[in-house]
Amino acid sequence: METEIKGADGIARGAEIIKSGDIVAFPTETVYGLGGDALNATAIKKIFEAKGRPQDNPLIVHISDKSQAEGVAHVTPAALALFERFAPGPLTVVLKKKDCIPSEVTAGLDTVGIRIPRHDIARRLISLAGTPVAAPSANTSSRISPTTAAHVYEDMKGRIPLILDGGQCEIGIESTVLDMSGEVPVILRPGAVTIEMLLEVLPMVMNSRGELKVAKAPGMKYKHYAPVVACALASSAESAKKFYARLVADGHKPVIIGRKGYVSDASIKFMDAGDTAAEVARNIYKLLRDAEKLYDYIIIEKFSDTDLEYSIMNRLIKSTQGVII
Ligand code: TXA
Ligand code: MG
Repeated sequence: METEIKGADGIARGAEIIKSGDIVAFPTETVYGLGGDALNATAIKKIFEAKGRPQDNPLIVHISDKSQAEGVAHVTPAALALFERFAPGPLTVVLKKKDCIPSEVTAGLDTVGIRIPRHDIARRLISLAGTPVAAPSANTSSRISPTTAAHVYEDMKGRIPLILDGGQCEIGIESTVLDMSGEVPVILRPGAVTIEMLLEVLPMVMNSRGELKVAKAPGMKYKHYAPVVACALASSAESAKKFYARLVADGHKPVIIGRKGYVSDASIKFMDAGDTAAEVARNIYKLLRDAEKLYDYIIIEKFSDTDLEYSIMNRLIKSTQGVII
């Protein structure tokens, strides 16, 4: 087989190859990937063959947009918050898989790693292929991961029909793999999204050495003041509205709680917590109780860390288990 190398003008051809059940190498911001249709077990077998990869090592499924995650995995509220913050980018989130993902992709596991790459060629390729793309790094198994098209060519020459050349990879090491399928998120492979960055969104994370790291905000280790539905703090009205729209698009029934005028769009369900910090303190527990009966995701305005607002935040950080969007 002849292996062609093309630039962005080869994306359409790459997408056709993926649709036809064959495999293509493509650039991402981390390293080059070797991709095939994640829903097609035959394509997956070709990836394992081309790499000489052991069958028990699962592949990451790449999608071009957060909205596709629900199609391949059971997306938890915390995972959604992670995608909101870090996607597209060098983070792979492991979640319980949906049935459409063949066991060849996950090496028989009931979980699947999902990543939304940031590289333009990768995203256009996946979106044009119209299917999630399973892709390991595009090296021969046990060799060094490729960060240029020439590296891929060294390993894959004669084994695959096409390499898309997107220049040198911006990050150069593989994505952070974070297992979100258990009680505590665990870093399986550290990468450019660091544990410090993850702790800005999650209350606790186990590092790849098995040490539990807890976010700096106080008291988040234990669940308190927690509504029965998922909650997140919004760092701004803009991010609250963006996250709200995302939740609605994913079939959720969210509400935003904030001070008078925090959001005023008629299409957004909003609960007014009052004008002053004293009013917010007086109303907040009642609002949370009311909201959990009517909605399935509560987005709360993040208050400052001074005076009475600090005391309110102390409770809200616990209510939201530290999830910030
Ligand atoms: O940056 C990256 O992640 C690159 C680009 C192409 O996206 N891909 C990559 O794939 O590095 P690969 O196959 O070389 O490494 C995937 C890693 C492996 O360590 C694999 O065991 C782990 O992710 N992994 C994949 N799915 C998993 C799952 N369901 N549970 C646990 N680990 C998983
Ligand atoms: Mg690899």
